[in-house]
Amino acid sequence: MIAYRTLDDADLAHKRVLVRVDLNVPMDCGRVTDDTRIKAILPTIRAITQKGGKAVLISHFGRPKGRDESQSLAPLAKALEAQLGHSVAFASDCVGAAAESAIARLAAGDVIVLENTRFHAGEEKNAPEFIQALASLGDVYVNDSFSTAHRAHASTAGLAGVLPAYAGRSMQGELDALTKALEAPERPVLAVVGGAKVSTKLELLGNLVHKVDIMVIAGGMANTFLAAMGHKVGKSLCEHDLGDTARAILEEAKTAKCEIVLPVDAVVTKEFKANAAHRVVDVDHVADDEMILDAGPASVAQVVEKLKGVKTVVWNGPFGAFELPPFDAATVAVAKEVAALTKAGRLLSVAGGGDTVAALNHAKAGCDFSYVSTAGGAFLEWLEGKALPGVEALKPGASA
Ligand code: 3PG
Ligand code: MG
Repeated sequence: MIAYRTLDDADLAHKRVLVRVDLNVPMDCGRVTDDTRIKAILPTIRAITQKGGKAVLISHFGRPKGRDESQSLAPLAKALEAQLGHSVAFASDCVGAAAESAIARLAAGDVIVLENTRFHAGEEKNAPEFIQALASLGDVYVNDSFSTAHRAHASTAGLAGVLPAYAGRSMQGELDALTKALEAPERPVLAVVGGAKVSTKLELLGNLVHKVDIMVIAGGMANTFLAAMGHKVGKSLCEHDLGDTARAILEEAKTAKCEIVLPVDAVVTKEFKANAAHRVVDVDHVADDEMILDAGPASVAQVVEKLKGVKTVVWNGPFGAFELPPFDAATVAVAKEVAALTKAGRLLSVAGGGDTVAALNHAKAGCDFSYVSTAGGAFLEWLEGKALPGVEALKPGASA
C-alpha cells in the first residue's frame, strides 16, 4: 500500500492550495463533450473550500508548443463553475503578475483556474525555475490528477518536492482501486486485455502474466496471437512480424501459471463498416478475404464461464470494433456480465485506459463497475508495473 498524506491530514484555513487537476477533457467547438474528469475533482475542491482554503487549480490542456489561445483553459473554468455551483475565477497565466494578483484577490473558500501550464516550456522540462514560480503561488500542494501521474512535469511531480504535498480525493480513489485490483487483490484475478495492437501492450502483457491468474486476450491483438498459433486470420488486423513475441508471451504465461484465454470463434466480414454483412466462424475458418471484427458467441460464453470463478477483474481494451455495430456485441455482453456480477457483490471490477471507458459507457455498464479510472496513459503505465512519478512524489520523504 502506498503511504501518502491526504486532505484529512491538512490544515488549509486561509491557505493558498495549489491543486494539480486534469482539465484535459475532450472538447468540440469550445464545448466539453465528456465531463468525467471535471466531476472527478469536485470532491477535492469542495473539501478544500470547506476547510477554508483557497483552491488554485493548475492543469495542462492539449499539447501546445508555447502559448496558444486555442488551447486555453478559460472555457474549462466556465464548465467547472457550472458543475461546482460556485463562481470560478480565471487568470490568463499560471505564473507571474497575472496569477499573483488574481490569487491575491481570493477570499477563503474561493476557487480559481490558472491558464494552461504547458504554455511554459518549464512545465514539461520539470525546470527548477518554473517549479519555483508555481510554488510561490501556493502554501501547500495537492495532486488530484492520477491521469497525469505518468508525467514527471513541474505541476505533476516537481511541486511535491518544494511544497507540503497531499493526495486529493480523486487521486486517493484511483490509488485505492488500483491497489485492490492488482497489488493486494482477492484472487483469482482475471484481466481482460484488448485493443488493436500487441506492439503497444508488450510491457503490459509481460507484467500482467505475473500478476493475474487468467488473462483474456481480446480485440485486434488476439489476431496476432491466433496467427502465431497457426490460425489463418485472412485480412484481419494482425502484426504478423510479432509471431515470436506472441509465442514468448504464451510461454512466459505458462511458466507464471497464468491461464491465457483466446477467442475460439469470431465475427468476420469483408468490409470495415457498421452493419456490414457478416458471419460467425470458428477461428480455423476465417476466409482469405475476410477480417475478424469481433469475438463470437462461443468466445463470450467461454469468458462468462471464467468470470464465475474469479473475485477480481481488471479491464483494459475492447473485444472488437465496438464503434461499429454489430461488432460491439462481445464487448457489450462481457461488460454487462462483469457489471452484473459486481452489482451482485460477487467481484471487484476496475477498468481504465484509452478506449476502455468509451466502450464500457457504450455498453451502459461502466456505472456498475467497482471503479472506472479517469486515466488513459497513466492507467496503462500502471498496468505495465511502472512507478508513476506523480505518485512517487507524494510519498512521505519525497516531499517537502
Ligand atoms: C491524458 O489525457 O492522458 C492526460 O491528460 C495526459 O495528457 P498527455 O498524454 O498529453 O500528457
Ligand atoms: Mg495521453
